[in-house]
Amino acid sequence: MRAESTKDFDPGAFVRPAIARLKPYSSARDEFTGTANVFLDANENGLGSPTSRSYNRYPDPYQRELKSKIAALENVGADRLFIGNGSDEAIDLLFRVFCEPRVDNVIVCPPTYGMYEVSAAVNDIEVRRAPLTEAFGLDPYAVIAESDERTKLVFICSPNNPTGNSMDRETILRIGDETGSIVVVDEAYIHFSSKESVASEIELRPNIVVLRTFSKAWGLAGLRLGIAIADPSIVSLLNKVKPPYNVSGAAQREAIEAIGEAPHVKAMIEKLLGLREELREGLEALRIVEKVFPSDANFLLVRVPDPTAVYRALIGRGIVVRDRSRVELCEGCLRITVGTGEENSALVEAIEEIGKEML
Ligand SMILES: Cc1ncc(COP(=O)(O)O)c(C=O)c1O
Repeated sequence: MRAESTKDFDPGAFVRPAIARLKPYSSARDEFTGTANVFLDANENGLGSPTSRSYNRYPDPYQRELKSKIAALENVGADRLFIGNGSDEAIDLLFRVFCEPRVDNVIVCPPTYGMYEVSAAVNDIEVRRAPLTEAFGLDPYAVIAESDERTKLVFICSPNNPTGNSMDRETILRIGDETGSIVVVDEAYIHFSSKESVASEIELRPNIVVLRTFSKAWGLAGLRLGIAIADPSIVSLLNKVKPPYNVSGAAQREAIEAIGEAPHVKAMIEKLLGLREELREGLEALRIVEKVFPSDANFLLVRVPDPTAVYRALIGRGIVVRDRSRVELCEGCLRITVGTGEENSALVEAIEEIGKEML
């Protein structure tokens, strides 16, 4: 199913036969879209909700108001937006739409975000690995060598979790062009990076899918809202398979409100970028810290001797970071999220004390 060029890319040829045949569930809100005063079509509770905000009605299954706000903000057509219950839902749906269990395969570039492999395992899909280089860059030769006519998805995380660096744009595009597979570029951390998104490439290269999330820069992880920006034909396929009301009314309402506060979010990002550099300086000044890797994200990958002992000692002081030392190419490393100024100071102080005890 390798396309001659991405211009010829046809998601219809990529889709699983069962999904092509699928007659999707038609909800009450799908079947009636006009105006009316009396809604007796969805077995809701017409008396209202016990809470101060009303949620007794099912939400818009296609999140039209929220999509129009995101479309204006991101300068993309609303028909290119899919909204999921976190970007984790979009990842899972991409598997369910395109990957035939025990037949198709996907490529990941470790070390990277773990859910790509978990979703693959849940969906019984073979995972092929094209590890990053020692400098945490993409190895396009390895990706292309691993791909074949049954490779449906290639996952590229940029900026990458847990290494923090951005991937080279031309290399991402080349992988898309040469494999002809769907290249899923996970931009969960793009707001902390000065690098440009690849979303603008989708019009020319419909085999690129960009993932975004409200969980990081937007400060709304608890809402569970993720976005896939994709060719409208891919968005339609994701909509066909998703549960009818996958994004709650509360999440839609809060996100619309948050978009109205975009300048506040911009200010938070600026602040976090400053805190990231302060944290870097604080950590680099410690004798126990061997290396702080460059980061385009809201976390730092930090190499220390005996990372698991440092991790446990931090927990003993009530501070939780992520021990990534058993992850390929991240040996010796902890992943530390940039917190508030006070949290970062507490962390640096704690690591300094632990260092004095250990060294
Ligand atoms: C790279 C990456 N993608 C996606 C996610 C999940 O995002 P969401 O909260 O939207 O499901 C994470 C969460 O840590 C992540 O690191």
